Amino acid sequence: MNVATGKTAGFAVNSLEQHWMPFTANREFKAAPRLITKSEGMYLWNHEGGKLIDGSSGLFNVAAGHGRREIADAVHAQMLANDYTPPFQMGQPSSFALASKLANILPEPFNHVFFTNSGSESIDTALKIAMAYHRARGEGHRIRFVSRERAYHGVNIGGVSLSGMVRNRETFAGVIPNVVVMRHTWDADNLFNRGQPEKGAELANDLQRHCETYGGSTIAAVFVEPVAGSTGTLVPPKGYLERLREICDQHGILLVFDEVITGFGRLGAPFAADAFSVLPDIMTMAKALTNGAIPMGAVAVRDAIYETITEAAPEHAIEFFHGYTYSGHPAACAAGLATLQIYEDEGLFERAAALSDYFLDAIWSLKDLPIVRDLRGYGLMAGIEVHPEPGKPGIRGNELQKKLFWNGCHVKWTGDTAIVAPSFIAERAHVDEIIDCFRKTLKDI
Ligand SMILES: Cc1ncc(COP(=O)(O)O)c(C=O)c1O
Repeated sequence: MNVATGKTAGFAVNSLEQHWMPFTANREFKAAPRLITKSEGMYLWNHEGGKLIDGSSGLFNVAAGHGRREIADAVHAQMLANDYTPPFQMGQPSSFALASKLANILPEPFNHVFFTNSGSESIDTALKIAMAYHRARGEGHRIRFVSRERAYHGVNIGGVSLSGMVRNRETFAGVIPNVVVMRHTWDADNLFNRGQPEKGAELANDLQRHCETYGGSTIAAVFVEPVAGSTGTLVPPKGYLERLREICDQHGILLVFDEVITGFGRLGAPFAADAFSVLPDIMTMAKALTNGAIPMGAVAVRDAIYETITEAAPEHAIEFFHGYTYSGHPAACAAGLATLQIYEDEGLFERAAALSDYFLDAIWSLKDLPIVRDLRGYGLMAGIEVHPEPGKPGIRGNELQKKLFWNGCHVKWTGDTAIVAPSFIAERAHVDEIIDCFRKTLKDI
């Protein structure tokens, strides 16, 4: 293996064995590794020197493209000025600056932001905020949460409890109780539907049925990804999110949008809440908040939620017993501030919106390939689902991900669905390059 880049950076790679890799077939990977040693703009370079186009902007987080100097410089300057401040009962300026900047792009009335270090932590934080809010209102009896089949809300026990993806939860039986799920929104009648399906809003009535079965007054919150991302881009049917909002309002249930993927321009608007004109009560986010450069997540809440929890506590008391050693870490805040500035200066959310039609046309050009079972998409996010190998779901997707890699394209797959989501700096030629790589890789299967 060529590890020259590692050596240049001052370290040597003598063995792959000791690192237990996440969400990876460790034995298979270590026998035939795929390492990235350089990244810039829309491209990655592997350890053999091969160049790949990044079709998933990393894991949907590198929205402004790789190697952004502004972010590196901001982090470097922050590290030299103040590398760390405990975030409990003390503060440092950059977390306040980032929260204000975020509030400026969040819809009203989302003016309060809690910082975490990942999407998974954002989900756990949102669960606790929901519990604290109801308790503060004297409704601590709301002990149930509602999620959805095929949901992905990260990997901490909170997120796994809400998970609707079987492989992510079957090993871990000891999750939090009192979670019930609604049906997912994929429907064989909506195959190859572009944008929001016309049919399927009535699936939101599953929430009403849970209210009738368990009592709406026992449900604390409903968690949904506005567009279900990791399961392969399930776009909400028209009227679906609106109906969820209506039922939540009828029963005093909090609506949580998990915007970890959809936040920061992915759908051609700042957040999915803007794209679909439906306001939740709590929004979780992470990924593109720092353009992938430094781990960071955040939870934004409506003012009423912050005020209810804060005002319910005695004066001088800590109001919310929650926080991480690295909540609002100075380096992450510096990265977040620089990232949001890039989005603004380069109009990247608008750019994503402007490229969407071309991107979706290109994705739909693959419809003629016999292996393609379904195509779905919205904004700069699309799912390309292939027919599974008979009786072996996921095997073909795994093989295709590797084939695409060696054919010059990185794309994240879940099961038999590729999730294509380029950076917003992409030009039409980059979209063409991704699609050409797919055609070349899929055509003979
Ligand atoms: C919707 C959603 N929520 C939560 C997460 C978890 O985020 P993280 O991997 O940063 O913990 C993800 C990650 O893909 C996600 O897509």
